[in-house]
Amino acid sequence: MSIADFDRYPLLFGPSPVHPLDRLSDHLGGARIWAKREDCNSGLAYGGNKMRKLEYIVPDALAKGADTLVSIGGYQSNHTRQVAAVAARLGMKARLVQERWVDWPDIVNDKVGNILLSRIMGADVRLDPAGFGIGIKSSWEAALEEVRTAGGVPYGIPAGASEHPLGGLGFANWAYEVQQQEQSLGVFFDTIVVCTVTGSTHAGMIAGFAGQDRPRRVLGIDASATVERTRQQVQRIAHRTAELIDLGRDLRDDEITVLEGWAGERYGIPVQSTIEAIRLTARLEGMIIDPVYEGKSMAGLIDLVGRGEIAPGSTVLYAHLGGQPALNAYAGAFE
Ligand SMILES: Cc1ncc(COP(=O)(O)O)c(C=O)c1O
Repeated sequence: MSIADFDRYPLLFGPSPVHPLDRLSDHLGGARIWAKREDCNSGLAYGGNKMRKLEYIVPDALAKGADTLVSIGGYQSNHTRQVAAVAARLGMKARLVQERWVDWPDIVNDKVGNILLSRIMGADVRLDPAGFGIGIKSSWEAALEEVRTAGGVPYGIPAGASEHPLGGLGFANWAYEVQQQEQSLGVFFDTIVVCTVTGSTHAGMIAGFAGQDRPRRVLGIDASATVERTRQQVQRIAHRTAELIDLGRDLRDDEITVLEGWAGERYGIPVQSTIEAIRLTARLEGMIIDPVYEGKSMAGLIDLVGRGEIAPGSTVLYAHLGGQPALNAYAGAFE
């Protein structure tokens, strides 16, 4: 099956916008940088990268007769907020396990931003003291069982939708969308920069671009601070997605690049380069990024372009994956 043959439930406005970041590019003085904006890809609760993954997962949930989407993330999970929005749109319930992934002292951390939006959208939000982990969690399995015991039909969506068998398809399709936009804009992005944590955004892109004639680099910037785990996850999901869309060849190791150096010591805790990247992008471009994900991938981009490790002649596409609602829980980082 090619990517076009999979069922897709529309959740986006259409192709997400692509535009140049001229002032940032001039400031760094090297490669030209553009952004593709998943932070404004949908009218559902501010959108974000999970909308694309969910477009391919929802048809399966509907086919299985589910009435409750069950998912998991940190207190400030963008993913669970997007699951809550999709459940609302579908007329389903959402049961969300919100773990204490980040030891962040802001007293509104479990009250504002993403978690507030999920509550407003009617999700059943339950806090859990467990720490960060991108694998399958027993608390999520217990939530599924609870819904079943209460007579509901749960549909499980793991953290970041990454362990879901169809989790890579949304961003495999993104790769084809980029190709079409390049044709109409008359530009070619030789390098893609993307934040990676649970892995299926980056992995889907790798599988999608691997099917295109013109090679390019897809650089994942780790924001998990558990880089080996994320690297393995990206590798596994990229291979799985490539098989699903009938790539017709094995992915090569050099097609899978996860770079570390900007995550700091712990997931969810911004470091100096994160805050500087957020400020620089805001002041030069009016583009807002968050302290958990995009601030870290942008810090990577700034260093790689600034040092010439992404060559001055390159044209780079920065995938802005969303996540700004979490900023509300990080006011203290900007005092
Ligand atoms: C804003 C944002 N950026 C990046 C990511 C990383 O994407 P993935 O988990 O697919 O690696 C996420 C989700 O985890 C996110 O919400």
